This record gives sequence, structure tokens and C-alpha cells, in this order.
Amino acid sequence: MLILAIETSCDETAICLAEFSDSGAKIRENLISSQIKIHAKFGGVVPSLASREHVKNIFPLLKIAMKNSDYKEINTIAITNGPGLMPALLIGTNVAKTLSWLWNKPLVPINHLEGHIYSAFLEPQENDANNYKFRKLKFPILNLIVSGGHTQLTLMESQNKFQNLGITLDDAAGEAFDKAAKILRLGYPGGPLIATASNQLKVNNKKLKLKELVIKLPRPMINSKNLNFSFSGLKTATLYLVQKLLKNHKLKDIIPAVANEFQNAIIETLVKKTIEAAKKYQPKTIALSGGVAANKKLREALEKETKKNKIIFIKPETKLCGDNALMIGAAAYFRTKNKKNLAPWNKLIVNPNLNF
Ligand code: KG4
Ligand code: ZN
Repeated sequence: MLILAIETSCDETAICLAEFSDSGAKIRENLISSQIKIHAKFGGVVPSLASREHVKNIFPLLKIAMKNSDYKEINTIAITNGPGLMPALLIGTNVAKTLSWLWNKPLVPINHLEGHIYSAFLEPQENDANNYKFRKLKFPILNLIVSGGHTQLTLMESQNKFQNLGITLDDAAGEAFDKAAKILRLGYPGGPLIATASNQLKVNNKKLKLKELVIKLPRPMINSKNLNFSFSGLKTATLYLVQKLLKNHKLKDIIPAVANEFQNAIIETLVKKTIEAAKKYQPKTIALSGGVAANKKLREALEKETKKNKIIFIKPETKLCGDNALMIGAAAYFRTKNKKNLAPWNKLIVNPNLNF
């Protein structure tokens, strides 16, 4: 099944043309135009700028995606219809609707979070970057989705059957990384910058002489009786800690220690809640996904804990953690196969708050 997938929910314009079967995906083109540089100076994504860039980039990308293929070969068009930024979602969905009408192809609206989940199901193949196999899945699967806009635990009983067990009550983990990086004046996006700064800790520890200081941040809601998250208090605590430290230290000297403690606070919270959910719901598999899934320490910590608890652990290839259209195509393949969500182009609903 040849699927043209389009993703414009945030700050990446992404188009993928790939052949899907039960065994996996063979990519013809998988393109991402990132707007990171444009939003970096604002310390976060500016929705109106994002939509302007999507408008600029989407047709050139489409042209490249289709350069060696005929539209007649396409079986299905997949499009992210939420959650995300409304002005950004509208660009991709309107292009997808137009193509669906013009080419007379079925349109499959895909939940962006479902797309992230499917990124973990794609197993990269050695020496062939365009070839992915679908992992043999053991259900139920407990998904920890950690992105810039979402942090949630979602149970998947079977293909296309989702149940949210816990969500963030305020900031998402990725958002918290971005805000902490802003407090430390590291730049945007914050996740990779905090991770790199945290790695400097061992190298600089002696020179920093921070041992005498208590660098401790809260692990929000770690002992709450539910599976929800909250990261906005952690951000405020980070701000107060930095203000206190700056009275006696230079910013550059405190960055590694604060970044490390901040990263540990997020990881410990995510891992503890995930294992708690696993004890309650007894999944056969735990799947990590979303932009924050690229975090090496988080991947290692979950790997360790799942091993201890004898649960299969799967995660996306690092390059598939961020937003991409291959994951949207993969989710659409299973929806189409199971005849779920096949909407005529004029019935497509865009929902910035879409969830399971
Ligand atoms: O899934 P994603 O690409 O976009 C959304 O759907 O939101 O996630 C982006 C988020 C950003 O907040 C970014 O800081 C975070 O993922 N991120 C990371 C890492 N790489 C990206 N967070 C922690 N560690 C990383 N290595
Ligand atoms: Zn995302």
C-alpha cells in the first residue's frame, strides 16, 4: 500500500511517501523541513510563523516527494489532524484535503500522538536507511509518550485501541526541558541542550566546587496515587534554585549541575510512574515515544527498569523520535487495514486538542 503522509502539527513540515505492508515500510522519500532556527530566537514555537513556513515549504517538499512517482500509484493520503497548533495543522490538512479531492484518494486523519506511538513499532534495518520492519508486537502495550506538548501514559490493548491512564496536568516534559534551558540561557530546543550540559558535570565537577551546595529539585507528583504528571512546579523550582545560586556563582559554573539535577528529576518521575502503571495494568510491552524519547539517559533508565520487571521495552530509532511523516504513514497503514478513520475529504475535522 503506497501512502503519502503529511505532518504539519508543530514546527516541522514533513512529507513521506512509503510502501507499507504487514512486514514494514519501504521509503521512497521521507522529508523534513525543520523551522528550529526560526523559532529559536523566541525560545519556543510561534504559531503564526510556523504556519507561514509550512505554506512556504509544503509544495516544494511535495514536489520532491513525488519526483519519481506517479500520483496514480498512491493508495491513501494520511494527514495529522491534531493535536497541535491550529494555524499549523490547517496548512497540512488543507493540502491533504485538496490532494484527496483532486486525485480521488481516500484520506486518513491521524492523531499525532498515535503517530508517535507507531514510531516505536518501526525497527530500522542495518545498512538500509529506507527500510523498516514492523516489530512483532506483544499486547497490551503501555506507551509513555513524551513530547513538547504531551506527557502521557496510554494503554494499547490491541491495534487502534487506546486508553489514557495518566496525562500531564500542566506542562509537558519536553516543554519543561525547553523552559529550564531558557532559564539557563542555553537556547532552544532545550532537551538536547540540557542533556549535553548535564554530560559536562563529571568533566567540570572539580573545577566547579559545587559540592558544598545542595542542588536538589523536586520530583513532582512522584508519590501521588494516580498516574498523572505535573512539571510546571519543577520549572519554578529550577528558576528559584538558579536565582539562589547566581548570588555566589557565575551562570556558566552552575549550568552542568542544575541541568543534571533537572534531567534526573524528570527521568526519575517518568520512570517511576511508568513502572507503577505497569504493575497495575500488567502490559507485555512498554513503548517509549515522542521528542523526549531521544534522551539517552531516559532510554537507558527505562531499559534497566523494564529488564528488572521482565517487560519487553521498545523505543523509536533516535531520528524517528521527533516529528516526522513516516510515523503518520505507519499509523495510517493500520487504520486503513482495519478500515478505521477513512474519512471523505469534506468530513475531515481538525482538532488542536485531539486525544485518545
Ligand atoms: O515530539 P516532538 O518533536 O514535538 C512535539 O510533538 O511536541 O518533541 C519536541 C520536544 C522538545 O520539547 C524538545 O526539547 C524535546 O522534545 N527533546 C528532548 C530531546 N530531544 C528533543 N528532550 C530531552 N532530551 C532530548 N535529547
Ligand atoms: Zn510530536
